Amino acid sequence: PSDPEPRHFLEIDDVSHEELLEILDRADDLKHAQQTGEPHEALDGQTLGMIFQKPSTRTRVSFETGMTQLGGHAVFLGADDIQLGRGEPLKDTSRTLSRYVDVVMARLFKHDNVEVLAANSSVPVVNGLTDDAHPCQTLADLLTIREQEGGFDDVSVAWIGDGNNVGQSFVIGAAMTDMDLTVATPEGYGIDDGVIDRAQELGGDPTITTDPVEAATDADIIYTDVWISMGQEDERDVRMEAFEGFQVCSDLLEHAPEASVMHCLPAHRGEEITDEVIESDRSIVFDQAENRLHAQKALLQWLLD
Ligand code: CP
Ligand code: NVA
Repeated sequence: PSDPEPRHFLEIDDVSHEELLEILDRADDLKHAQQTGEPHEALDGQTLGMIFQKPSTRTRVSFETGMTQLGGHAVFLGADDIQLGRGEPLKDTSRTLSRYVDVVMARLFKHDNVEVLAANSSVPVVNGLTDDAHPCQTLADLLTIREQEGGFDDVSVAWIGDGNNVGQSFVIGAAMTDMDLTVATPEGYGIDDGVIDRAQELGGDPTITTDPVEAATDADIIYTDVWISMGQEDERDVRMEAFEGFQVCSDLLEHAPEASVMHCLPAHRGEEITDEVIESDRSIVFDQAENRLHAQKALLQWLLD
């Protein structure tokens, strides 16, 4: 299977504003179809190859079950189980996979490497998380916010904690949907300047602060993620110190009486979020996790249309 110029999804702004809304609308339809038992096997006979250099629960299971529900099949390719782990170049891995599968999803460390995969692939490549970006998470986040708030107009979101991969893609997604975003991170752990520039070019105007209370005050959504991402385990001590005061806890929520709380999961209770908050009725983290399935089914169907 090959397409002369496949569309890839490496960053959330690889799709236009209109295309993003089209994918979210498809996700709504697919969610409804699944909930009502309506058949939706649009990818009958198609195969997704899934390369993982890092662990995963949500991404792996939502892509795999998503392909099954769409009538297709997914192949799990742990990086150490395939020849990539023994040094086969990524470009050869990509050219080979392209001859077998209809679409590839990859979770890799270096963002450059997912670009190498895409550059050498004749089928669409989807970023399932790199050190810099997690656009599939953003699709689910936007779907969840739209469900929760009834739209994106006048929605104010606070990203509190690390300016990491999940935060970076979300900043761009928030700009594309015209939400009002404040990002609060410790000095030195902010969103990359290049990402802020891209958000601004897309019409966003995120407020940047080092004060979590300023960000949280009167927000509709408070969103956080781990302080120590996969691959940063050696930085634990210095990060734990740097992020002191950035925990999403009940004291912080007092500044945002209406806010729902989001987290991409997995969460480290007692670090970036308290057990009390994640278990409270403010928390929409499992709706957010479920929406990975619906959003990615829509993305796969859209890419393979
Ligand atoms: N949120 C997310 O991507 O979770 P996993 O690491 O479990 O895939
Ligand atoms: N920022 C986290 C997200 C995990 C889904 C990480 O990269 O480990």
